[in-house]
Amino acid sequence: MKIKNICCIGAGYVGGPTMSVFALKCPDINFIVVDISEEKINAWNNYDLKKLPVYEPGLKEIIAQTRNKNLFFSTDIDEAIKKSEMIFMSVNTPTKTKGEGKGMAADLRFVESCAKRIGEVSNKNKIVVEKSTLPVRTAEKIKEVLNTHNSDKKIKFEILSNPEFLAEGTAINDLLKPDRVLIGGDNSGSGKEATQLLVELYKKWIPKEKILTTNIWSSELSKLVSNAFLAQRVSSINSISAICEKTGANIEEVSKAVGMDSRIGSKFLTSSIGFGGSCFKKDILNLVYISEYYGLKKVANYWQQVIDINNYQTNRVFDKVCDALNLRSQIKRSICILGWAFKKNTNDSRESASIYLTKQLLEIGVQVNVYDPMVKKNKIFNDIETVFNTHNSDNLETNLKSVNLNVLNSAYAASKNSSAIIICTEWDEFKTLDWTSIYDSMEKPSWVFDGRNIIDDYKLLKLGFKTFKIGKS
Ligand code: UDX
Ligand code: UDX
Repeated sequence: MKIKNICCIGAGYVGGPTMSVFALKCPDINFIVVDISEEKINAWNNYDLKKLPVYEPGLKEIIAQTRNKNLFFSTDIDEAIKKSEMIFMSVNTPTKTKGEGKGMAADLRFVESCAKRIGEVSNKNKIVVEKSTLPVRTAEKIKEVLNTHNSDKKIKFEILSNPEFLAEGTAINDLLKPDRVLIGGDNSGSGKEATQLLVELYKKWIPKEKILTTNIWSSELSKLVSNAFLAQRVSSINSISAICEKTGANIEEVSKAVGMDSRIGSKFLTSSIGFGGSCFKKDILNLVYISEYYGLKKVANYWQQVIDINNYQTNRVFDKVCDALNLRSQIKRSICILGWAFKKNTNDSRESASIYLTKQLLEIGVQVNVYDPMVKKNKIFNDIETVFNTHNSDNLETNLKSVNLNVLNSAYAASKNSSAIIICTEWDEFKTLDWTSIYDSMEKPSWVFDGRNIIDDYKLLKLGFKTFKIGKS
């Protein structure tokens, strides 16, 4: 088989950037990114590159080079499937909200409906690549769906697992220079052939020793385990931050001292208000579910703790704010939330600690003023609506006025007349704010709760602020 056209179903945070880099590095192949959302595809096709649906440093430059040359965005899913020899599935796999495994297992509805469609419209052999993070042994299920809906039984489907390890905010660099590329495939002749075709694509820019081939289940499980290990490190350091606050140790010093042991390493040891993002919680819940399914209760409990500590960390910050400002005493207060994205350099806010913290503040009647440089106002209101589960989207802003949420267009506007600022995202622009004028515009006493430890505490104290930093007494 010669690969001339590749299609990717799902033009989200993974599908869009991944295919852009593929298109840049494989100029002889056409890439068609399709999505059921017309609005999203229109945004990917927007002439104004600032209006792409995904914000990632370096992305718009690549789109400028590849779009409408060998990279296309379309809603014509069937046509793209028919044309392509290889199909990436990059649709979302949220945690199930009902049925067996509710709140734990991955919802494979979208993956299954894509497989069904591929089966129904395919007119030649295809390689189907799982890009979405999926539970172990999903490939088996996909194969079953593809073959059940295969209109022409002569057509053969080969399934590969090729999980994505990009982190948002650094996606382009992660795609251009990955630590490794993982490809899981069948051990059969045709399975090996399909694996090799994908290896050849990656070899165009990635050294071959970084391309790892495994069996399909190892590949699926490795993705879940990688995310679980990363999240575990954040929960580990966050749990220690609570000890630091009690004992007078300093979390940054502890983190540095521990991370300098080359067996441990220094990355992913930054204490925070709690990890967010679309993957960590979902993937760990999946791991817990799989462990329970196979009767491994102790393993399930072990990984559940990573999530429990994460919730504990966000709740701890909420309690600190309540105690410092005496919030539970009915005194009307305004609090400013700086940063809504789950980390800097992305416009993604999925599972951001800001959402959970804001919800708790709104619940006790606090006026919350939010500012984020990249997350749109509407998205912030939607996140809050979803978390409150009001399902009342007709006139969102008016409804939410009753629960005191405001979204402002600068850190200065959001902090004005507030009693406290809570820094939730480590955006660089927060480091260079004019803290003197912020102090002057706030209620007194003025608090800064630095949930990311990015502002010089000494400077704030000198200006008159009262401060709280994670992991520092
Ligand atoms: C992806 C993976 O799918 C997820 O499993 C992994 O853990 C992280 O990366 P992501 O790209 O971040 O998710 O999700 P999102 O930005 O929501 O994009 C998914 C896209 O798929 C959406 O644009 C959605 O409209 C589209 N979609 C969904 C389809 O085109 N068809 C469907 O049937 C369902
Ligand atoms: C993660 C994985 O890193 C990536 O390999 C996978 O493909 C998808 O899931 P992502 O969620 O995009 O990527 O971002 P990541 O950089 O891992 O950050 C996740 C969360 O952990 C963020 O909220 C971040 O602020 C937080 N974090 C990270 C910390 O609190 N401390 C750290 O030291 C590192």
